[in-house]
Amino acid sequence: MEPDQLLKNMENIVRECGKIILHADRSQNQTDAKPGHANFVTAYDKKIQQLLQTRLLQLLPGASFVGEEEDTHASIDTDYAFIVDPIDGTTNFIKDCRMSAVSVALTLDGERYMGVVHNPYLDEMFTAIKGQGAFLNGAPIHVSSQPLKNGIVLFGTAPYNEELAKKSFEMAYGYFKRAMDIRRSGSAALDLCSVAAGRAELFFELYLSPWDYAAGSLILEEAGGTAVTIEGGPLTLREGCSVLAGNGVES
Ligand code: IPD
Ligand code: CA
Ligand code: CA
Repeated sequence: MEPDQLLKNMENIVRECGKIILHADRSQNQTDAKPGHANFVTAYDKKIQQLLQTRLLQLLPGASFVGEEEDTHASIDTDYAFIVDPIDGTTNFIKDCRMSAVSVALTLDGERYMGVVHNPYLDEMFTAIKGQGAFLNGAPIHVSSQPLKNGIVLFGTAPYNEELAKKSFEMAYGYFKRAMDIRRSGSAALDLCSVAAGRAELFFELYLSPWDYAAGSLILEEAGGTAVTIEGGPLTLREGCSVLAGNGVES
């Protein structure tokens, strides 16, 4: 299948998942606790992941599949692999804060190849194919050219790793003093896309898992931005790491 057609098919599957989020029945509490502070999984996280697994593997039979809501994760080292987060922003979803996304990355031989991040509440579909730029609903997007002092800084609190909380807030305070203001959306995938679309200048979080950033970091890089660890190293897709993402403007 041609890359463009493959991406379109991925978008269609992700849009279907977005509809499930939009029409979710939150009247029944179908939430289970996971390890870590305030870490929950809903019946919808599981349902959407199942749908993604079935439909994406129909597109590329034989591809590996890594999803947040499973205990053991397949190797992504060779050939195609999907890395998915069925609902990025589960806490927002539980609280009906209407700021969550479906995130799907496709890797080839362990490298990011395609990314799709969909915010169903705003009907926004962020997409990228390696080397071909980044798009929002089909229109090209680019990071902003503003320095940090004219910028908004997004950050995540690494909520499931309480030992990182103090450092996270100290860093946020540091950036708050250097930038115009800070924000915390509750979806790392959307944060990366916000920097990609020039809506914010920087994003950081001291620990994220590959499904949080695999798609969003490719979209950001294809929009002209950078995504590295806090120490400046490459993001690892086989295990989680910190993420420091920006528009690449020296500040
Ligand atoms: C979380 C969100 C949140 C970030 C957490 C992630 P989840 O993903 O991206 O913004 O702060 O670190 O784990 O659990 O809602 O899929
Ligand atoms: Ca996530
Ligand atoms: Ca999730």
